[in-house]
Amino acid sequence: MSERSTSKIICTRESITAKDVILTGDRPTGPLHLGHYVGSLKARADLQHVCKQYILIADMQALTDNADNPGKVRENVLEVMMDYLSVGISPELSTIYLQSAIPETAELTMYFLNLVNVGRLSRNPTVKNEIKQRGFGDEVPAGFWTYPVNQAADVCQFKATVVPVGEDQVPILELSNDIAATFNRLYKTSVLRPCKALTPTTGLLPGTDGNSKMSKSLGNAIYLSDPPNVVAKKVKSMFTDPQHLRVEDPGHIEGNMVFTYLDVFDPDQAEVARLKEHSQRGGLADGTVKARLIDVLETFLAPIRDRRAQYGKDPAEVKRLLKIGTERAHAVVQETMREVRDALGIVKL
Ligand code: TRP
Repeated sequence: MSERSTSKIICTRESITAKDVILTGDRPTGPLHLGHYVGSLKARADLQHVCKQYILIADMQALTDNADNPGKVRENVLEVMMDYLSVGISPELSTIYLQSAIPETAELTMYFLNLVNVGRLSRNPTVKNEIKQRGFGDEVPAGFWTYPVNQAADVCQFKATVVPVGEDQVPILELSNDIAATFNRLYKTSVLRPCKALTPTTGLLPGTDGNSKMSKSLGNAIYLSDPPNVVAKKVKSMFTDPQHLRVEDPGHIEGNMVFTYLDVFDPDQAEVARLKEHSQRGGLADGTVKARLIDVLETFLAPIRDRRAQYGKDPAEVKRLLKIGTERAHAVVQETMREVRDALGIVKL
């Protein structure tokens, strides 16, 4: 199987039309944070007006490295669903579904596992990295090691044409396209379609500590569900400028997380430019800039938090919305799977 160059597989927001089908989703292992919002949730709320969009809560994939803690996965399914709903992802415009409730995905994963060789899987840079990060060594669960094949099944069963993912997940989509092409060639069919990766154009939102990635495990995240006092506390402890010891010293903008966040979230960029200029001149206290960021984040998060509180009062309704989306998604997958089984020549009883 050929290893494709990444340039061919990446598409742009401008190229997406009403004919496209988007599939995207998250592992439910924790509540979603501002990094998720900047990196993907915002785009989903926008793209749902452009074309069909499926969003999966990937609980089966989450179990591939949480087999010893299924409770964590279970507890986060509705949390993630509430995060989606509270940032304006509409359960009517988007089809939000639960991965484990579509057993055909596991079936397709089995067929796909025969179309990829062990050498190719072990070279996958995404998984190699994740194995290192998790310290699995030789003890990597086979399910985790093969999760890209499961993800290929997620993508192919909807005939998705666009898959928004982080840069690090692009090799998984190359694998998915190779599996689809192999399937079509071997079984003389055209049921499966190649997809393109839509990667974020804005850089990753760094963590509050200045680490390049906001993540739960690094403890540097501001969550969409954080109450105001927690947000304020996190902003006050943000990484700013170690060389800015006295207020009158000139400040450095580059690497100061408070300015980085203001760049992203402050609607009044002229004021941000003035503050930067003042900081560089000297005489601007960190506390003043932090107070502004606390205000800005409050304005941004308050409506999200309010919507979340509404849904939080009615978990049965949240579950019902997920069930409706899952039924809609299931019907589409059942149709694809009929074509897949026909192409494969699976015996019908
Ligand atoms: N791998 C994604 C994550 O870690 C979740 C995911 C599972 C996904 N299946 C997918 C994303 C299919 C896009 C398409 O968050």
